[in-house]
Amino acid sequence: MENRIRLFVNVDHVATIREARKTIEPDPLTAALLAEKSGADGITVHLREDRRHIQDDDVFRIRNKISTVLNLEMAAVEEMVEIALKTNPYQVSLVPEKRQEITTEGGLNVISQQEHLIKIREKIQSKGILYSLFVDPDLKQIDASHKVGAQSIEINTGRYSECEDSMAVQHELDKIRIAARHASELGLRVFAGHGLTEENVGAIAEIREIEELNIGHSLVSRSVYHGLEKATRDMIQAIQEGCSRRTGY
Ligand code: PXP
Repeated sequence: MENRIRLFVNVDHVATIREARKTIEPDPLTAALLAEKSGADGITVHLREDRRHIQDDDVFRIRNKISTVLNLEMAAVEEMVEIALKTNPYQVSLVPEKRQEITTEGGLNVISQQEHLIKIREKIQSKGILYSLFVDPDLKQIDASHKVGAQSIEINTGRYSECEDSMAVQHELDKIRIAARHASELGLRVFAGHGLTEENVGAIAEIREIEELNIGHSLVSRSVYHGLEKATRDMIQAIQEGCSRRTGY
């Protein structure tokens, strides 16, 4: 097992900012290329059914222009399967999706839709695309993921990331550790993500079975802080340059 975790950068919220104005910037493709330049091992996008951030064209552009690989998160519905087959990403990750949710709220219920997930798996794998399922750290859901033929699971770290007291953090970490071990023993590759930050990622990275992390919101949030200083300086300079051309006073 490699003693290193691959980081997939999720650029959904770059598109969220763009969609707030329905304009062309910031472009999630530009963000993806910057993330790659800084060492990202792959790029993740979630094409939601309501298209609230990433658009179909973003998926195609990012797939074609990045030099790493694309992980396409999507709901287990026919429309998305068609798009995945046309786009041919490196990996498809199935996630549950509710229209009213602010973000993905929990893992997939694999147990209740095994036949459906097997049919999707057959289509996805027929193109050589890796098939991953986003699940809670729940052993029964992991067993079902194995049964439907997933190659990997992504363990939902959402609840862990929301814990405030240390007892609750330890409890969630134990669940994630046990789930990761169990999945690995079944031969599944183990990934994790949701709600991870620089502060809480270390304990997750200690879990030896975890190979890959998907991180988005915290990276985009920090980029605002890191980037706003320079953006403000550049804007002041542009304003001053305009002022220096004033005439007639
Ligand atoms: N993994 C999955 C399955 C997700 O749906 C998301 C959010 O789009 C993430 C990881 C990344 O979560 P965050 O944006 O909180 O880092």
